[in-house]
Amino acid sequence: MKHLLKLLDLTPEEITGLLNLADQLKYERKHGIPHPRLAGKTLGMIFQKASTRTRVSFEVGMFQLGGMALFLSGSDLQIGRGESVSDTARVLSRYLDGIMIRTFSQDEVEALASYGSIPVINGLTDFAHPCQVLADLMTIRESKGSLEGLKLCYIGDGNNMANSLIVGCLKAGMKISAACPKAYPPDAAALEFAKTYRDRFSLTDSPALAAVGADVLYTDVWASMGMEAERTERARAFLGYQVNEAIMRAAKPDAMVQHCLPAHKGEEITSDVFEAHAGEIFDEAENRMHIQKAILVTLME
Ligand code: CP
Ligand code: NVA
Repeated sequence: MKHLLKLLDLTPEEITGLLNLADQLKYERKHGIPHPRLAGKTLGMIFQKASTRTRVSFEVGMFQLGGMALFLSGSDLQIGRGESVSDTARVLSRYLDGIMIRTFSQDEVEALASYGSIPVINGLTDFAHPCQVLADLMTIRESKGSLEGLKLCYIGDGNNMANSLIVGCLKAGMKISAACPKAYPPDAAALEFAKTYRDRFSLTDSPALAAVGADVLYTDVWASMGMEAERTERARAFLGYQVNEAIMRAAKPDAMVQHCLPAHKGEEITSDVFEAHAGEIFDEAENRMHIQKAILVTLME
């Protein structure tokens, strides 16, 4: 593994390897065993969009590994004034040991990786959110014991989370049913990948149908970052695409609820369901840090 650009690039073995290493690093952290595996190394973190979890978990994770992280706001970098991604990649490769980038276009992340000479980690694009889905898989495995054969139901926008969940769950041996409004389907690349897994993947516009027998219910915001102008129109289109009591009744009695956060309670999830499952949702947020440490060690050690 040279970069983490999207889950489509990873083998199932690489995914399992990251999950195992994340469990080990979490255990070490909880038991006070230091692991300075990236002593003296530096990670640059480019943010072209807002972040709470990604920024803090990468920064703290690098510190715990003995290295340091630099926050680079897209609007303060010359990239925000038109310097090319290819030049930025080649310059940053001379100073840093790795780059994490959160931006709009997946192509920009791929370009950074191809022009630079250091590992690049995708911290969210409009197409994918691989770090989040690896944390989700870690959390589900921790709670259910194994991933093989479990059914995850995703309800909502066919966005970056839907795309990465489809690929991640299928590669991890899970089933995934997605319920998205017809006008907001997942990306064609994720659907193309899922074609080879017809027995483990389904796409519908009915949340009630998708939720039947689910082990995990997953949802995300109706309007992702960068889509704020469409909020009203989306609120109308997504009405009914909500994880609520009725949806929970269609799932297995011991179904987990996961949400990448931030949550808009009363929209994609009710407050009651959110609070009843807050423990596993915040475990999921915590696991962002452990899985990202595993990604950093794998790419940069
Ligand atoms: N889930 C997630 O990526 O959160 P942030 O946007 O706060 O980083
Ligand atoms: N789909 C959301 C995920 C946030 C972590 C967004 O892109 O804003």
